[in-house]
Order: sequence, then C-alpha cells, then structure tokens
Amino acid sequence: MTRFAADLADRRPTFLMAIYLDNAATSYPKPESVYQAVDLTLRHGGNPGRGGHRLTLAAGRVVLAAREAVADLFGIRNDSRIAFTASATEAINIALFGLLRPGDRVVTSTMEHNAVVRPLRALQERGVAVVKVAADSRGYVDPADVRRACAEKTRMVVLSHCSNVTGTLQPIEEIGPWLRKQGILFLVDAAQSAGLFTIDVEAIGVDLLAVPGHKGLLGPQGTGFLYVREGLAPRPLIYGGTGGNSSSEQPPEEMPERLESGTLNTPGLAGLTAGIEFVSGEGIATVRAREAERLHQLIEGLGNIPEVQLYGPLEPHLHGGALSFNLPGRDPAEIGFLLEREHGILCRVGLHCAPDAHRTIGTFPRGTVRISPGYFTTAEEIDHLIAAVSSLVSHPPS
Ligand SMILES: Cc1ncc(COP(=O)(O)O)c(C=O)c1O
Repeated sequence: MTRFAADLADRRPTFLMAIYLDNAATSYPKPESVYQAVDLTLRHGGNPGRGGHRLTLAAGRVVLAAREAVADLFGIRNDSRIAFTASATEAINIALFGLLRPGDRVVTSTMEHNAVVRPLRALQERGVAVVKVAADSRGYVDPADVRRACAEKTRMVVLSHCSNVTGTLQPIEEIGPWLRKQGILFLVDAAQSAGLFTIDVEAIGVDLLAVPGHKGLLGPQGTGFLYVREGLAPRPLIYGGTGGNSSSEQPPEEMPERLESGTLNTPGLAGLTAGIEFVSGEGIATVRAREAERLHQLIEGLGNIPEVQLYGPLEPHLHGGALSFNLPGRDPAEIGFLLEREHGILCRVGLHCAPDAHRTIGTFPRGTVRISPGYFTTAEEIDHLIAAVSSLVSHPPS
C-alpha cells in the first residue's frame, strides 16, 4: 500500500462514525453497486470511441449504457442529445457560453447558485443583458414575475429547479410550456432535484437541462451531463479530439461528440449508471417519499425549538432536500463547528455558493446552517441532529 492509500485507510473509521447530513453538496454514501461499477470499469477499461479493440469497445458500451440510463430517467427520446460533463457547472457553462451572444437578454432569478451567477456575470461583461427576477422571502419565484420579466425580447430563461439553500422548488412545469410558446429558451439547473423529482424534459418544455451525477443520482464526483433539445447547437466550450472525424480541424457538428472533446470519465459514468439504476429500481416516488419524511421530521423537530429560525417553505411538498436554519445571535460557522466536534454531525454552513439567495432570504453575509438528508439518512440520525441543536441552544457559549 502506498503512503497515500494507507493514509486514506487510516482515516476511514472517522468517516464511518460521522452522521452525514450534507447530501446537497454530494450524496454519501453511494449504493454499493456504484463503488463496484467504478472499480470494475477502472480495472478493465479502454478509451471509449478511440479505436476498435475490445477494451475500447467495452468502454464504448459503458458510455452507451450511461446515455441510455439518463435518457430513460429524464424522458429524452434521442439519447445523442445528452453530452457528458464533469459537473453541473460545466453543463451550465456550455449552455450559457455556447448559446448566448452579445446583445442577447437573459432572465434568471435571485435564487441561483454561482454556477449560474458567475458565467452570467462574465457574459454580462461581453454584452449580454441579465435580468434577475426577485424571489419572495421563502425563495419562491412567481411564474407571473418571470412572464413580466420576459416582456422585452428575451433569448433565455435560466432557473434552478430547487434551491440549494432553502430547498424551495420552483414551478418549472408552469414556466416551461409558456416559454416554449414564446420561443424563449429554458435552461434548468437540476443540481438539487435530479433523482428526487420526476423531470420529463419533453413534457415540461425544457430546452437545456444541467445535471450533476454525484448528488441525487448517487453517482461519483466528476460526472454530470447537459441535455440539449433537438435543433439547438451550442458552440463547444472545449475543443479537441473526439475519436472520429480526425482529419478535420473543426469540431464535429453532431451531438454528443460536438460537446465531448477529450477522454470521457468512463469509470465515473459506469458509477453514474449504477446510481441511476439504484434510483430507478427504488423508484423516484419512493426516494422522494423517504426524503420528504426526513424533511418533515426535521421541520417539525427544529420548528419545536423556539430559538431556531427556519428558512424557506415549511411544507415538504414545496421543498427539495435542503433545509436552512440559524440560531439568532450565533454564527452559523460556530454551530457547524460544534455540531461536528460535539455531536459528530457533518453539514454545511455559510453561503453555500449562492450569495444572492441569502440576500433574498435575509441571511447575507453570514449565511445559514444547511441540513441535507439523503436516501440513506435514518430517522435516528435526524433525531440526533434535533437533540444536538437543542443542546446547543441550552448551552450557549459563555
Ligand atoms: C443549485 C446548484 N447548481 C449548481 C451546482 C453545481 O454543481 P456541481 O458542483 O456538480 O458543478 C450546485 C452544487 O451544489 C447546486 O446546488
């Protein structure tokens, strides 16, 4: 064993003892089948689409299976419209930089993650107009406000389906069909909703869907994808080898090769396929029902502690996986530190890469304590968290 591997193995017991409530950052643990799929593919893998020998072909089949699994889960009829990426961030960047030009106008909201805010800011500096629709204090974006914001000629609307700060679910089913009728492109950031809610891109009228593989789809980090509706041809963000058409200096016109230059993360995609198989096998409704149960328990338990200030909608049906709270007068960073040190609970504190969302709910600049249960979170773990918060309230720092 190398020193690095030995170090990882040494730290394993402390990982296992912790209560992980940070699934909005990345899901943990993964189903056993995900670890196995990554391991097997890494041991027996060639480079997909690069040549014709058996290991290359086997890798190609892994990628094909991943594309089919994604297409099935998201109602995508033509799986070549799915481009694999390293993250949701990369997918969002391809959609924005690939389709917007100076003079275009984009409508977005005040609940977006920096994965949307920062590329839009960069595009604004290149002459793209960006309009932010204000969400209400629970983080909800009213479709009527989106319609009003689109009164001027608009090229694209960009919205997160579910906030990573408040868990607020946005009414994309209402907004999508309207935008489609207006001929306005709809980019949905499904980082916090994929795997937890049914998203049928064709039924909703989503033109571009950005998804990470490592959150609700239970796959490994370094995976994600962008769905691109037929008829759209974003400019690539990255240029290079795609395995075919090698004589041309131009990238291929066809999807997905157009957006997939460079070697794909085949082991990661094998893990992603296993993650999707797990989610589909359990059924999205079951996954969602289980997380909603934990959320309900959290909202009730924390809500019963008078000092706790909860944010976002408190009805589980308007809510995805993340719940934010604060203890007035206490720094969220201190609460996160004590939750880990005194109670073995791992969660995230601060701004969660979404400063606009905190300005919207009134928690900027310190942010919140964010609790995000996952599929494997137990009722006992949530009870432990509630008891831990209660004890922090009764023992303020002297
Ligand atoms: C709403 C939202 N959008 C985008 C992202 C970026 O996802 P990734 O880290 O996979 O790029 C996140 C990550 O937390 C998120 O919560």
